[in-house]
Amino acid sequence: MPSAPETRSREQWATRTGFILATLGSAIGLGNIWRFSYVAGENGGGAFLIAYCGALVLIGLPLLLAELALGRRAQGDVVQTFADAGPRNPLGIYGYVAVVGAGLILSYYSVVAGWVLRYFFEYLFALFGAPTGADPAGQFVSFIGDPWQPLAWHFVFLVGTFAIVAGGVRRGIEKLNRLLLPLLGLMVIGLVARGMTLPGGMDGARFLLAPDWRMLGEPSVYLAALGQAFFSIGLGMGVLVTYGSYLGRAHRLPTAALAIVAGDAAFAICAGLAIFPAVFAFGLVPEQGPLLAFITLPHVFATMPGGALTGLVFFALLFGAALTSAISLLEVPVAYVTRRFGLSRLRAATTIALLIFALGVPSSLGFGPLAHIEILGRGILDAVDQSVSSVALPLGGLVVAIMVGWVLPGDSAAEAADLKGGYLSPIWLGLLRYIVPLLILAILLSNIGLI
Ligand code: PHE
Repeated sequence: MPSAPETRSREQWATRTGFILATLGSAIGLGNIWRFSYVAGENGGGAFLIAYCGALVLIGLPLLLAELALGRRAQGDVVQTFADAGPRNPLGIYGYVAVVGAGLILSYYSVVAGWVLRYFFEYLFALFGAPTGADPAGQFVSFIGDPWQPLAWHFVFLVGTFAIVAGGVRRGIEKLNRLLLPLLGLMVIGLVARGMTLPGGMDGARFLLAPDWRMLGEPSVYLAALGQAFFSIGLGMGVLVTYGSYLGRAHRLPTAALAIVAGDAAFAICAGLAIFPAVFAFGLVPEQGPLLAFITLPHVFATMPGGALTGLVFFALLFGAALTSAISLLEVPVAYVTRRFGLSRLRAATTIALLIFALGVPSSLGFGPLAHIEILGRGILDAVDQSVSSVALPLGGLVVAIMVGWVLPGDSAAEAADLKGGYLSPIWLGLLRYIVPLLILAILLSNIGLI
């Protein structure tokens, strides 16, 4: 395999903290707040947490380190990184898959983030006395069923995402994350304090943390944990490769990777500790699937004292978290197109954001005029989400594991990850060569219903 070119001159992160915050911002997203809560709720609470921690250590951490190392080694976008596998190596195609996949995730992610934005403004106006709806379920259904409104919010969200990415790696992405991540941390801590002090709130904490041991016998719990780990860290779609490529050699990767995985998990657990106590305190049932954030919680906010402010903080948190993830997804195709077609960042970001807007239209309309369309028994947004997060992300993870574990010589791989000569290097390589591919194959086969 050819050695990675060393002369690709590109923008770099200004500081190590900036890089860690940006990567953490990419990891912390809608996945940590609404997805984590309902997946944990459906899979045995504390039992799910045990399986989730296992998935983070065995797959999440080694793959995250592998992606960052690959990107930093190549100092190029995701297509260049995988083209480094060699001219005739089929793994090279994966770079293109990641460019398209990241855009596809963003197309529906932005639809949901648009809903969040609308709710954020509703609670903002409620602070100034505008009435919030008395019937959260009816209100949500009629909002997402409207052909125009959700599209308008989808557009607004993408314009915000575009504006940051067009600003560049340092002046756009790094700056926003440095500002927003500490705020997100404060907001989630405030919400945990609010939830735990509600009467009956401890039941919610128990629901999240107390393990239902019988659930540990269910294979589906482990698969859900693996899928959640992939989505939450944001593995397999070239995001971490791209962010890693803006790093210089001076920064050490293993500790950064550990901080990112731990921060992502801690954030998800805090979000759960904010959400479940509130749900229990008001006698509601937590297993409401993806609608937890948009129907169950508005119900809670409508009943609790100071609910409008709590609702505002909750949707501000969701919005900020979604934005820092969305910019990382947009950066993958933008980095590729700027280099490949020699476009300016502004041009590339405009073109791609418009394309992604168009790509998201069917997902948005799938709740209104296109509600009759079903793909494999699911609505459009759900079908795209499922196929990307349960097939494309694990497949991407498999390619990364093969590239680092089998294609790169062991020494170069260990060197790229700053593990050379240490006792961790054989453990990391062993996980990438055997354990990670086996577990991913198990997820993939089970997702397509073969096991
Ligand atoms: N990690 C993000 C979240 O938790 C989503 C994401 C997926 C980001 C894939 C990048 C790549 O919401």
